[in-house]
Amino acid sequence: MALLEVDGLTKSFGALVALRGVSFSLEAGEVLGLAGPNGSGKSTLFNMLTKIPTGPDAGDVRLDGQSLKNMRAHQIARAGMVRIFQTETDFGDLSVVENILVSMPSDSKPGTKAGRDAAMALLSEFDLDGMADQASGQIGVFDRKKLMIATALARQPKILLLDEPAAGLSKPEVAAMIELIRQINAKGIAIVVIEHVIPLLLALSEKLIVLNFGEVLARGAPRDVVRDPAVVEAYLGSVAEDA
Ligand SMILES: Nc1ncnc2c1ncn2[C@@H]1O[C@H](COP(=O)(O)OP(=O)(O)O)[C@@H](O)[C@H]1O
Ligand SMILES: [Mg+2]
Repeated sequence: MALLEVDGLTKSFGALVALRGVSFSLEAGEVLGLAGPNGSGKSTLFNMLTKIPTGPDAGDVRLDGQSLKNMRAHQIARAGMVRIFQTETDFGDLSVVENILVSMPSDSKPGTKAGRDAAMALLSEFDLDGMADQASGQIGVFDRKKLMIATALARQPKILLLDEPAAGLSKPEVAAMIELIRQINAKGIAIVVIEHVIPLLLALSEKLIVLNFGEVLARGAPRDVVRDPAVVEAYLGSVAEDA
């Protein structure tokens, strides 16, 4: 049994079918890449997995063999699947360390000195400890991306869902982000990563899925998938290989 089993997810918004019958599985500790043109349903897929804001019209998701059908968003996070959003969703008025503290599960006692020490240790893994007391709205784009990921990790997930973690980053920052994701994965956390930055997908993913108009267009070994003529035609024609 895979850690995550996604079976036939379908979601419509009025007449628009944003996802149609999408199925895949994710093993413990695996990295799965997810690509596809804008509007192909990638972020919607993360919404369906986490029920933020709502779940699918049809299909099912099993996490550790347990159906998510009757689970609410906070229960899914507690069961071990946590996402970061495509847009910045830090609490800009809170300090960097407070962002971590509000995301820590209550059993790690965020209100105590031990809790703050744990939050600072997490920040130092991301080189953010030096700005712990700055308002998170004041720090740079790359640091905010790292803070969003650190905040997700404070929830101690088994599966981390990353929605375009490299968007808006410079080339050296993309390289640093690849390294950072690799380190997170090395701790045994499985990752699904949505990206347009093909070098990142090739560097990290064991499998790659390409969505198009809400359906799986291609899947398999990343280097095969990016050469698939259907993928080149629908998608990669418009994306620079070295973006
Ligand atoms: N809440 C919503 N209401 C209406 N349409 C939506 C909503 N969310 C997404 N869509 C539409 O669903 C399609 C897939 O969107 P999305 O999953 O955000 O694409 P991607 O992340 O691949 O760029 C798009 O056509 C988008 O406009
Ligand atoms: Mg998106």
